[in-house]
Amino acid sequence: MLNRWKSIFLVVTIALCLAAGSSRAQQAPPQSSKPEHAHQKAQDPWWKHAVIYEIYPRSFQDSNGDGVGDINGITSRLDYLRDLGIDAIWISPMYPSPLVDFGYDISDYTAIDPLYGTMADFDRMVSEAKKRNIRVIMDFVPNHTSDQHPWFAESRSSRTNPKRDWYIWRDGKGTGQPPNNWQSWFGHSAWKFDPTTSQYYYHHFYTEQPDLNWRNPQVRKAMYDGMRFWFKRGVEGFRIDAVSRLFEDPNLHDDPILPGKNAYGDPNIMHKYTDNLPEVHEVLREMRRVADEFPGDPVLISEADEPNIAELTKMYGSKNDEIQLPMDFQMADVNRLSAPDFRRLLDEIDRNTAGGQPHYFFSNHDQPRQWDRYGDGVHNDQIAKLMATLLLTTRATPLMYYGEEIGMRTTDPVRKEDVQDPIGKIGWPQEKGRDGERTPMQWDTSKDAGFSTSERPWLPVPTSAAEYNVTAESHDPNSILSFYKRLLALRRSEPALRKGSYLPLDRENPFVLSYLRKDSGKGDAILVVLNMSAETRTVSFDLAAHEVKEMSAIPLIAAPEIGGESTMLTHFTIPAFGVFVGMIH
Ligand code: NOJ
Repeated sequence: MLNRWKSIFLVVTIALCLAAGSSRAQQAPPQSSKPEHAHQKAQDPWWKHAVIYEIYPRSFQDSNGDGVGDINGITSRLDYLRDLGIDAIWISPMYPSPLVDFGYDISDYTAIDPLYGTMADFDRMVSEAKKRNIRVIMDFVPNHTSDQHPWFAESRSSRTNPKRDWYIWRDGKGTGQPPNNWQSWFGHSAWKFDPTTSQYYYHHFYTEQPDLNWRNPQVRKAMYDGMRFWFKRGVEGFRIDAVSRLFEDPNLHDDPILPGKNAYGDPNIMHKYTDNLPEVHEVLREMRRVADEFPGDPVLISEADEPNIAELTKMYGSKNDEIQLPMDFQMADVNRLSAPDFRRLLDEIDRNTAGGQPHYFFSNHDQPRQWDRYGDGVHNDQIAKLMATLLLTTRATPLMYYGEEIGMRTTDPVRKEDVQDPIGKIGWPQEKGRDGERTPMQWDTSKDAGFSTSERPWLPVPTSAAEYNVTAESHDPNSILSFYKRLLALRRSEPALRKGSYLPLDRENPFVLSYLRKDSGKGDAILVVLNMSAETRTVSFDLAAHEVKEMSAIPLIAAPEIGGESTMLTHFTIPAFGVFVGMIH
């Protein structure tokens, strides 16, 4: 299946690679991996070894029967999250919002939307999470506000309003002519004419999401104060939305046109003048300074769909003074089971010149779920376990998406009239929107999978919930959920998996991805072998180059299950899509 975001990003990626001349192909293969101590300080910050779990609040648990998930619903499921074994939750926006983009259009940065509950509910959730050693990370949306935000109401009221310059206002080129050819990420012109003052405002996303002007110091101050507000309430980090889009060329150059048309029927363009402008890094440094005002190593995570390792590395900051965890979209978007592709990306990020901590994910609220994207239609459950192992056994800080641990699948609407996500309405039928990856969490086999008691949840519960749900899978030792739990427990108990170095093995193998995680402290080494093909494969490992003399491994986790017998490394057979994680001894 084509990943819809990938198809949009691809255009930008190709364009940026051409422009920057910095494709992966230009990088020499690694000679050897960095020594382990290069990645570690005396005491690592918590986020370096945490497993983060994204909650889309509308869809996790409805506590009041209105068909939409809420804060008290999340609180009621904290025991589940603790038992699952995650360390932090990132919750997509719950701020007051007209919900045009389901919360990514904020009308007040320092309040909770009544749809999700009250500030007291929020405080209780944070405190209950803390009791279970779960940290709370909020979403922060700095690029744009809602058009219903009082700042925008002021800004649009007159050309001389003190907040006029808080947004990007420009004259058109002529009657009915926007200022230039810039396009919204969500289709069509990025300029909207506002009759009150006869000027256009710029919106990188929906027309209801006007972009803030980050060149205005008052905007910066207001936004940083917004971050401080939540830090003071016990939040331990932010996932920062769309950071690469914060600035636009002040001279309004037209973006270059590329061949072909996108899903909205617009010409493809390269977002050269609206994406990744150098000033972004100035803001990221300032945001980091705000985070650093607070104790406990708060974390900044960026949504940064960077096209290559060079751009991704910049997100850490030249002095490691920007984002601690830039999400790695290149890993997320491989979209095929390819050992060479994953190996190359793992190598690249492991050797990033900033020494930054990698941050991997495969699913989120904008991407079709990994069960479908990586599944081959026949072995999807086994492949779900394979992807779980890849996510949870590398050196990266893993980011899970609710429901991936039970094998939830993408369930797109079948009729345009059922679509909730506006991009699905604009782009139907080619672009069905993101409802498919946002369906309610599947807790059990009761009505609407235990998500809600309402007549009609905001999105329908997929039929797969009858089989794939928390209760059923908790009782099945071979379920995807049981597998995730075992892996998460293993990651917690084995320092080699959390902080060991990453040592790629068998580097030319086209089908099997293998690596060692080696802990300098105890000297433990854990072997991970992932067969990314539909056939049984036999591989041979010689670990002498990594100062490992032992010739066999004892399985810690394997799928399909194998006995507890140790396996010889010189003749190692792994079944189709098989997973092996074993302690070298
Ligand atoms: C990225 C968010 O993940 C997505 O859901 C949202 O629509 C856009 N940014 C705009 O905020």
